[in-house]
Amino acid sequence: MKVSLAGLELINPAIAASGTFGYGIEFEEIVSLERIGAFVTKGISLEPMAGHSAPRIVQTAAGMLNAIGLQNVGVEDYIQRKLPPLARYPLCKVIVNVFGYTVGDYIAVIERLNQAQGIAAYELNVSCPNVHAGGMAFGSDPGSLEYLVRRAKSASTRPLIVKLSPNVTSIAHMAKVAADAGADALSLTNTFLAMSIDVETRRPRLSNVTGGLSGPAIKPIALRMVYETARAVTIPILGMGGIVTPEDAVEFLLAGATAVQVGTASYADPRAVERLAHGLESWCRGHQVERVASLTGALEIPRA
Ligand SMILES: Cc1cc2nc3c(=O)[nH]c(=O)nc-3n(C[C@H](O)[C@H](O)[C@H](O)COP(=O)(O)O)c2cc1C
Repeated sequence: MKVSLAGLELINPAIAASGTFGYGIEFEEIVSLERIGAFVTKGISLEPMAGHSAPRIVQTAAGMLNAIGLQNVGVEDYIQRKLPPLARYPLCKVIVNVFGYTVGDYIAVIERLNQAQGIAAYELNVSCPNVHAGGMAFGSDPGSLEYLVRRAKSASTRPLIVKLSPNVTSIAHMAKVAADAGADALSLTNTFLAMSIDVETRRPRLSNVTGGLSGPAIKPIALRMVYETARAVTIPILGMGGIVTPEDAVEFLLAGATAVQVGTASYADPRAVERLAHGLESWCRGHQVERVASLTGALEIPRA
């Protein structure tokens, strides 16, 4: 079940997605951390962030809408309190999701994280749709994306994964921009800009008015984006968007992903990512797949 990507060796391709798995350590009594390949932390910023006021989460048909606003403890507290206990689980790789309002913020967070032990890679969040600056503003403009990724790559002492926004016209183009600027791997997709209205009150259901849609509702679109990205770049892809079952994950692998992330499913079942790791192994055994890595990009398109 091993996979390797951007210099990381994972015991299996199941990864818990950013923002749905806290800082990882909160899950130690729920999930066997040694049985999942990795997890990605909540977006970490230079200073602590309080996030938006409630309501920040709304259930939708086949998914959910969130506008958390990147609530997090800030890089210093993260390094002092949240990271050290994870040394107990060396098999589970820690990927830190990095957020900034400005290029300088991103670089400062990376430079501080470089000094800490126990981190396997960084995931650059250029795709959060729920903040007024930073995040998606970088991920939806090729020039800004290129500049940020280049700077982040030269500041980073660890593999740099760039998490792309799906809220763009051509995901393949943005993927190529990030790859050419030095990204070691790409994560996609983040959430899709969306909204929900309460018709009785005539008010938006989220305090932020708009938010990001995730869960099974986005799966076919995210899958198409992974497929298009895999045809545009040669660096590894971490695919996500509505993955719940082993079959969902296999679809992403066949489309070109090397590993998969599970986000919203953890809200319905906090053990979803561990279940996926087991389920994927059973699926491979049942289908005589000897190495899960052989599924990556193995999509067969019949000739017309
Ligand atoms: C409540 C919530 C918070 C999230 N916070 C972050 C975040 O801090 N950084 C980030 O890059 N993605 C964040 N995401 C996006 C997820 O990591 C993932 O890309 C997205 O939800 C699609 O996967 P899913 O359909 O399996 O949830 C968040 C998603 C949710 C639902």
